[in-house]
Amino acid sequence: MTSHSTPTGIFITGTDTEIGKTVIAGGLAAALKAAGVNVGVMKPIASGGVEHKGQIVSEDAIFLKHAAQVDDALDLINPICLRHPLAPSVAAEIEGVSIDPRQIDEAFAQLCQRHEFIVVEGVGGIAVPIRDDALVADMAQRFQLPLLIVARPNLGTINHTVLTVEFARSHNLTLHGIVLNASQEGSKGLPEETNPKELARLTHLPILGTVPFDERLQGNTPYPDFLSQFISEHIDWTGLVEASG
Ligand SMILES: Nc1ncnc2c1ncn2[C@@H]1O[C@H](COP(=O)(O)OP(=O)(O)OP(=O)(O)O)[C@@H](O)[C@H]1O
Ligand SMILES: [Mg+2]
Repeated sequence: MTSHSTPTGIFITGTDTEIGKTVIAGGLAAALKAAGVNVGVMKPIASGGVEHKGQIVSEDAIFLKHAAQVDDALDLINPICLRHPLAPSVAAEIEGVSIDPRQIDEAFAQLCQRHEFIVVEGVGGIAVPIRDDALVADMAQRFQLPLLIVARPNLGTINHTVLTVEFARSHNLTLHGIVLNASQEGSKGLPEETNPKELARLTHLPILGTVPFDERLQGNTPYPDFLSQFISEHIDWTGLVEASG
């Protein structure tokens, strides 16, 4: 990574796509901002960008910018945006683009100069390819930030979460903890009740909270105040700033 002021922050990954990385990343950014932290946000690579004023932009980056209430340019928050909703390596090949990690390093260094803490959202899960020679895990390594894993709370999450944790550890990544998030409506039963304890036992990681399904998180981007309050109610994020400092 290129030189920059103290790189403090968190890298948000997930056990799957559509697991709630953006909601959790945006919520944490909003909560930190409300607590007086000068927080920045980043979505280094996005795929499935949408057309806006003749440009392809990332809806995740727009959400994160809104949640953190920053005035950073969208192409600084999200330096690489691919049109196809595919793994970045595949989308990049179809679009004839080469993903240059130095572009990400440079944007991150600039964000680190503007902010004291950066919430970075990965793309897909940790084993998703971003180039022929690199996975999201390799990209995460370049940031030298601890990882937060977003996982679902229901049946099946033990397998996905343990695999993600083991993969991260095999790539020498530091793990901060796990957040369980219900991005889909479902019943709450024995799996949801028992999973946090079993996940903590198997991964030796703190489960920082379980975020319930809430319709206010669907559709339009929620107000930062609501996001901050909602996330603070369900996630213990107090260790975040010290953990990466
Ligand atoms: N706790 C929740 N309650 C209700 N809806 C949620 C919750 N968490 C996430 N969602 C919704 O689920 C969908 C997926 O969430 P989100 O976009 O945060 O996932 P993601 O992991 O960032 O996806 P991607 O891999 O595309 O970046 C969104 O429509 C979001 O509004
Ligand atoms: Mg997202």
